[in-house]
Amino acid sequence: MVCLANVDGELRAIDNRCPHRDGPLGQGWLEGGSVVCPWHSWTFDLKTGEGEFPAKVTLPVYPVRVQDEDVLIQIETPPIG
Ligand code: FES
Repeated sequence: MVCLANVDGELRAIDNRCPHRDGPLGQGWLEGGSVVCPWHSWTFDLKTGEGEFPAKVTLPVYPVRVQDEDVLIQIETPPIG
């Protein structure tokens, strides 16, 4: 799943699962350009995926574009097998 956020009119998509204990980042809140996990407040930059708290963890971010009324998120799937 993906956490989709509107940062000052720009859509950003990041992996929804917090690497701490699998908290739902999409249910967290925004602080500037970052999302804060609702469970224990780990914080990630929505543009780079880099952790701000803690700093050594990075999440995947996904390209987003709007086409007509659709939001398209490019999620690359791992190879099968
Ligand atoms: S599960 Fe996200 S900070 Fe703990």
